[in-house]
Amino acid sequence: MNDKFLAAKVNTSQGDYRVIVGKSILDTLGSELENANLKNKRCFLISDKSMFPKKTKQLHESLESQGFITNSFSIEFSEELKSLETVTKIYNWLADMKAERKDFIISLGGGVAGDIIGFVASTYLRGMPFVQIPTTLAAMTDAAIGGKVAYNLPVGKNLVGAFYQPKLVFEDLDFLDSLPEREKTSGWAEAIKHSLILDQDLFEEFYKNHDQIYKLDNEYSAEILKRSVAIKAKIVSNDEFETGDERIKLNYGHTVGHAIEKISNYSEYLHGEAVSIGMMVAANISLRMGLINKDLVNRQEEILKSYNLPVKLSGIALEDILEAVKMDKKNVGGRVKWVLLESLGKATISQEVSEDIISESILEVMN
Ligand code: GLY
Repeated sequence: MNDKFLAAKVNTSQGDYRVIVGKSILDTLGSELENANLKNKRCFLISDKSMFPKKTKQLHESLESQGFITNSFSIEFSEELKSLETVTKIYNWLADMKAERKDFIISLGGGVAGDIIGFVASTYLRGMPFVQIPTTLAAMTDAAIGGKVAYNLPVGKNLVGAFYQPKLVFEDLDFLDSLPEREKTSGWAEAIKHSLILDQDLFEEFYKNHDQIYKLDNEYSAEILKRSVAIKAKIVSNDEFETGDERIKLNYGHTVGHAIEKISNYSEYLHGEAVSIGMMVAANISLRMGLINKDLVNRQEEILKSYNLPVKLSGIALEDILEAVKMDKKNVGGRVKWVLLESLGKATISQEVSEDIISESILEVMN
């Protein structure tokens, strides 16, 4: 097996799988699928409409030329459409196409597509094998790895779901070409987050070599992406079901980030943008708790700004954020589990943050 593009192996109770990262690597997909034991040669490619027709067609043709009988279905995905209705449309298509349990499903799209298609794969015929081919930077660094699949209920995000691991995660940077600049940028938040919580050296690379990395068109940027991906893979391998204190660390910046997204109806801020502001709040809390110094808060702010991520918030009331934070689904026993920094590359968890510190830290990011 060619390991040139291997970013990480994820070890889980449902089996181990490879995460492949590279540029223009579609011709290696067939051998990766075979290596992942997907030898049945009949697959169901479900793609985000925004990938249609060009990228879907390109993937479809590549699969066929590598010997896989491919059936395609393109459908619109968005946070509002992350519903049982969309799930049902895909079930119905699979039923019409007479998909069998020994066939496999491929998801082509961003985080929402991967979550829904993964959920379909986890339940249709009591589970079909599936492959993640993420097409956004945020999904490449985070959502596609680790098997969290779900859809939303009107009362909350991701309330129905499962841990259902893919057989392969295949990331070709060419899929980022068609992404609007803002979407591409927002994906940096998760990649930089990994360095903040677990890898100081990676943070320094993000910091020093911004110009090369940001372009995402060279070998070096693929190597950096691989390192960020490897951090996610390691965390999932160590704490697959988020029962320990490891996987929750990926929530750095997400408590306030989710609150911002929810209050603005998932329309004003992209996920990574909300997480970026949320990370500034978490850093401010860490400072006020005496865990880190101001210099680290400033460095975090500087790096986020240099990757064109927002660090300030406007148009949202403090009270609304406090209220939404209290409703976060990761709260335990009614108390917020804050992910904080205790140094660069090291995160910690605290349920002991006072209301005053939370309010002051949020006010600090308000314009
Ligand atoms: N996106 C966070 C996780 O996979 O746990």
